[in-house]
Amino acid sequence: MKREIITTEDGSVTIYLPEMQETYHSKFGAIQEAYHVFIKNGLDLVKDRPISVLEIGFGTGLNAFITFLEAAGRNQQIHYTTVEAYPVSAEEATQLNYVSQLNASQHTDVFAQMHNSAWGIDVKLSDSFTLNKHQQRFEEVNDVDKYDLIYFDAFGYPSQPDLWSEAIFNAMYAALKTNGILVTYACRTVIKKAMQQAGFTTKKLAGPPGKREMLRACKI
Ligand SMILES: C[S@@+](CC[C@H](N)C(=O)[O-])C[C@H]1O[C@@H](n2cnc3c(N)ncnc32)[C@H](O)[C@@H]1O
Repeated sequence: MKREIITTEDGSVTIYLPEMQETYHSKFGAIQEAYHVFIKNGLDLVKDRPISVLEIGFGTGLNAFITFLEAAGRNQQIHYTTVEAYPVSAEEATQLNYVSQLNASQHTDVFAQMHNSAWGIDVKLSDSFTLNKHQQRFEEVNDVDKYDLIYFDAFGYPSQPDLWSEAIFNAMYAALKTNGILVTYACRTVIKKAMQQAGFTTKKLAGPPGKREMLRACKI
């Protein structure tokens, strides 16, 4: 499928899929959205201990990279598992401007390594951050009681409704530890209901600039 690099309103780029009319992040600001949804409303709630994160959709690596930066800044041990069926190419990865937009030039190699590293093994990228990329479909995730936090970052419900179904959230629920948290940029009622049917307690939260709401789901 054709992929184009476009610039979002905060100056950071994202990927646009013309055939699906989908972007990997909010057009209002990729970095801004990633920090709001996944860091402020996710990672910040599980600050003071070593944690295990699952990301649904590695994509550009932006969520992984900002989580790496946070782990270093807070000196928190983070084991980061990410799932992606259709990785971006090495050439596409070089066009992503996250390192410069985040003033993180000292970690240029880490961002490149995130994209170049092998699949299916733990890769220690710093004292505080270990990455494990799985090239697999979301529908195949079958971990049990493993994660403290899930970044649920699939394409939107109109493009891929099956990825926002009760069956998928059952798998996410099983993958989380008790008191685990799932965060996502989406907020449709149909999604909230599917989460609740899977056993989650849900909460609507204010969305990032340009988006009214988002969801946090907890396994209590
Ligand atoms: C919204 S983007 C993820 C953005 C990413 N978190 C980032 O920081 O750039 C959704 C991702 O899901 C991937 N994808 C779509 N359908 C999938 C499936 N069924 N299984 C695995 N990956 C899928 C796409 O290739 C894309 O990278």
